[in-house]
Amino acid sequence: MPDSTPIATAERITGGVHVDRRHDSAHKHVTGEAVYIDDIREPAGLLHVYLGLSDRPHAKLLSLDLSKVKSAPGVVRVLTSADIPGTNDVSCMGRHDEPLFADDLIEYAGQPLFAVAAETRELARRAARLAVAEYEDLDPVLTTAKARETGTVVFPPMTLKRGDAAEAIASAPRRLEGRIAIGGQDHFYLEGQIAMAVPGEDDEVLVHSSTQHPSEVQHIVAHVLSIPANAVSIEVRRMGGAFGGKETQANLFAATAALVAKKTGRAAKLRPDRDDDMVITGKRHDFEVDYSVGFDDEGRIKGVDFLFAARCGFAADLSGPVTDRALFHCDNTYFYEAVHAQSLPLKTNTVSNTAFRGFGGPQGMVAAERIIEEIAYAVGKDPLEIRKLNFYGEAGRDVTPYHQTVEDNIAPELVADLEARSDYQARRAAIREHNAKGGYLRKGIALTPVKFGISFTATQYNQAGALVHVYTDGSVHLNHGGTEMGQGLYVKVAQVVAEEFQIDIDKVRITATTTGKVPNTSATAASSGADLNGKAAQVAAHTIKERLIGFAVENWGVPREQVVFLPNRVRIGNQEIPFADLVRTAYMARIQLSSTGFYKTPEIHWDRAAGSGKPFYYFSYGAAAAEVTVDTLTGEYRVDRVDILHDVGKSLNPALDRGQVEGGFVQGMGWLTMEELWWDQRGHLRTHAPSTYKIPACSDRPKIFNVHLLENSPNRKDTIYRSKAVGEPPLMLGMSVLHAISDAVASVAGYQRCPRIDPPATPEKVLAAIEALLEQVSPP
Ligand code: MTE
Ligand code: MOS
Repeated sequence: MPDSTPIATAERITGGVHVDRRHDSAHKHVTGEAVYIDDIREPAGLLHVYLGLSDRPHAKLLSLDLSKVKSAPGVVRVLTSADIPGTNDVSCMGRHDEPLFADDLIEYAGQPLFAVAAETRELARRAARLAVAEYEDLDPVLTTAKARETGTVVFPPMTLKRGDAAEAIASAPRRLEGRIAIGGQDHFYLEGQIAMAVPGEDDEVLVHSSTQHPSEVQHIVAHVLSIPANAVSIEVRRMGGAFGGKETQANLFAATAALVAKKTGRAAKLRPDRDDDMVITGKRHDFEVDYSVGFDDEGRIKGVDFLFAARCGFAADLSGPVTDRALFHCDNTYFYEAVHAQSLPLKTNTVSNTAFRGFGGPQGMVAAERIIEEIAYAVGKDPLEIRKLNFYGEAGRDVTPYHQTVEDNIAPELVADLEARSDYQARRAAIREHNAKGGYLRKGIALTPVKFGISFTATQYNQAGALVHVYTDGSVHLNHGGTEMGQGLYVKVAQVVAEEFQIDIDKVRITATTTGKVPNTSATAASSGADLNGKAAQVAAHTIKERLIGFAVENWGVPREQVVFLPNRVRIGNQEIPFADLVRTAYMARIQLSSTGFYKTPEIHWDRAAGSGKPFYYFSYGAAAAEVTVDTLTGEYRVDRVDILHDVGKSLNPALDRGQVEGGFVQGMGWLTMEELWWDQRGHLRTHAPSTYKIPACSDRPKIFNVHLLENSPNRKDTIYRSKAVGEPPLMLGMSVLHAISDAVASVAGYQRCPRIDPPATPEKVLAAIEALLEQVSPP
């Protein structure tokens, strides 16, 4: 295996590991030169495709009259389920519960019924509206409450348990119970869903798809068209954001474009507008979590019981693994002496919810933090004290609800560090003093920790492949199974390859992800893109390097240790030659200069039925301290200051990691405070554009924002250069803002009661919480 320590010489290549390096496309993102799918020069004869959607959440489709669609200007072809040569299915992981086009049964408002292809996008869009459908309405299940009555699940629930939770709660000195409702979230990627398909010879088709999971899109396209996977190539150079929303949701668009292309023999592009994109695609799951907890007078948790009911929508999609991950994170950084936790992935007649940064983990942690907050009010202490009291600790207090031992717990030290850096105690005292004076502007502060498990819980996904070519001019072509969505995966993997060969990063060509170069890939998800693909690329580069060393030993007759890769050159015996010269000489001697690389995460295993195993290779940690001001007359608030300390192990690229931490935090804060999804009684999503769905703007960012990466904290596991995954964990730092708002709100009632604000804490909800508290302490 390759060595994971970079060469310690004063002289360094540019763009090796552990250095700040801008995103490879940063300049192009800013100037608009970065090519997204809609920027690819359109092939001659390209058709534009639009989808016709159902108007009902749950109905039998009695008839669908498409005659007006067909005769509309510019329309070339109209396709329904009857035109699908293969399987009418775009579900992930082969669950067969998600048709490409609904035919007899409609299961959510906005479900695609047909596609229309026309000469221009505008003509296709207008034509799609001309369909006349006849429905027989069925009783829709729209809310979690109603779904709990019917009890239909889209996936078998999971249970985690350790010890006898019921007994521990019953015999604890103190007890409380409650429910928290946690809102969903739209991905709001800047580049919406899009696919462009180009038909080839025979069966062949090339699809440019904005997807995190090219291999799955390949399989979906193959089985919809009833052709073998080897006839389908999926290519993705970059996505303009994905956040989990393109892990499975790209399937439908890619399959439709490919179907049109093969049916018409013309290239076809499908790009829904923002409103349709938001209506058609799944979101973060909203949850209702019931909890009961037993604790002692100090606030130490004795036993806890959770029921995680999630609104999954009409199909399974990733709801099984998402609700599982909520359970895996219902402990956050806390040890439960006894625990029972169960998931309830409920079927509803709404869009099928999907992956979203954190993948259910955030909802699990939000429930854990609510419990901490409740206990703090019950025993009259600062929630931070309750957190510290319940942290994982020494043997006996280090086993998770899924029976994995926490071996790398750094939460106590990290939180202590942030508490000091952020001057938490002094500021908290000052805030209490400020609020004691009364007035309608109240301040609040909270410090919340994060522990996030790294690895796919479906063990088979923890594998990756890469392909590296070295050309005779010494330049390197790099390809791997990971996809680029703005997170900076491509440049991180290029840094690894540059480091391995000791060549400047501008000698390494980053190339688009394609199923033809690296097959059978996993989705770029679970934050493991760099962990998996970085290692695979390192293995590929290392194989070539070993061949070059072997060749040099033979050709120059030197011992192996006298062949040393120095920056952009190689020392062989007592001569130094440029890297490119060694490569050219090796080529002349017929040395193979291309290699694949493969990696699979070691140690992990998971038995879902038993609720036991080691699903995570390691954990990533972080903490955030937020201070807010709340206007108690309107419920509006402002984030005054946020301090973050986040653990990325030994960073591959600190500049990019900071970007992930900042962006993740703001996205998490948006989820828990201002982003609100709203469906009407007819099951129609009414928040389907930025006019009604508010994501954080620049002006919403913390006025003071201190972000630090934890130093001198290499991953204890042998990950790529001892780095840690960073993509998702920082999202959960946003919890600090919710809790700071709650702290400010509690002041109106003298901190006597837990405000129990259910996220998103919109100004409306904050105001309602204030009024409820005031009523409780002094009834009218
Ligand atoms: N960062 C940007 N800029 N855009 C994105 O779409 N997706 C997030 C995270 N950071 C995302 C992002 C999600 S959901 C995941 S799982 C990881 O990036 C995936 O990339 P990684 O595994 O390379 O970290
Ligand atoms: Mo991220 S939710 O794992 O794509």
